[in-house]
Amino acid sequence: MANELNTYVPGPNSWAKPGSAERNKVEVLPVLNQWFTGAALNSGIPIESRRVLELASGFGTQVSYFAEYTPSVTFQPTEAQEECIEAMKAVAEQATNHNILPPAKLNVVSDTDWLNVVEKSGPYDGIFVLNMLHISVWESTEKLFLHAGRILRGKNAAFLAVYGAFKRNGEYSGEGDRLFDIDLKRRDARWAIRDLESEVIPEAGKNGFKLKECHQMNFNNLLVIWTLA
Ligand SMILES: C[S@@+](CC[C@H](N)C(=O)[O-])C[C@H]1O[C@@H](n2cnc3c(N)ncnc32)[C@H](O)[C@@H]1O
Repeated sequence: MANELNTYVPGPNSWAKPGSAERNKVEVLPVLNQWFTGAALNSGIPIESRRVLELASGFGTQVSYFAEYTPSVTFQPTEAQEECIEAMKAVAEQATNHNILPPAKLNVVSDTDWLNVVEKSGPYDGIFVLNMLHISVWESTEKLFLHAGRILRGKNAAFLAVYGAFKRNGEYSGEGDRLFDIDLKRRDARWAIRDLESEVIPEAGKNGFKLKECHQMNFNNLLVIWTLA
């Protein structure tokens, strides 16, 4: 499916493994919660004023779970796909907690979307994105760091967290990831497991981000956290 920017946006069957969001939300939360609440930051922003943005929210599995666990923080889910947004709205109608804002349409490669959706409503205390970098065009990664640098609070006052499969120094983390990468490229030649050291960290650095933490997670995935230096 091509969007108005002629950029491929994958469908719901692009998920790595069925049920993976249900599993990774549980393992990711204890790390991210330190950043959601501001415990790992020096911003001084009270918890009830903290706002966190999610990109590529999918069907909102993780953001719903995080918001329920951290009711004082306000979460803004976003997605490029209308179908995911509609699904998230339906879930939000059933939710009893009110700290998730209505899902917004944001294609990470669209400067206009960033401007309309979040730059006007910033600054944010954090951004997280799970399982997107490998399953989208490289321009998504470039635009992610570019715009994150503009909408986050300043030095050590906000975080950017990226979760997913990565190569390390040119090497796959295992045979499973090598096969996964072949499958990704078969589906779209522009998709790929990105290399943390040679691709993602330099892109982050270009936009003023400094690597703070890199957590090894299940299934050889990483949870990587940056702040503005
Ligand atoms: C594998 S799914 C992951 C969804 C969710 N984050 C999760 O971990 O379950 C990849 C998601 O990236 C989204 N995506 C891909 N390219 C995008 C872009 N340019 N802007 C925003 N979202 C994008 C897709 O719509 C899809 O929901």
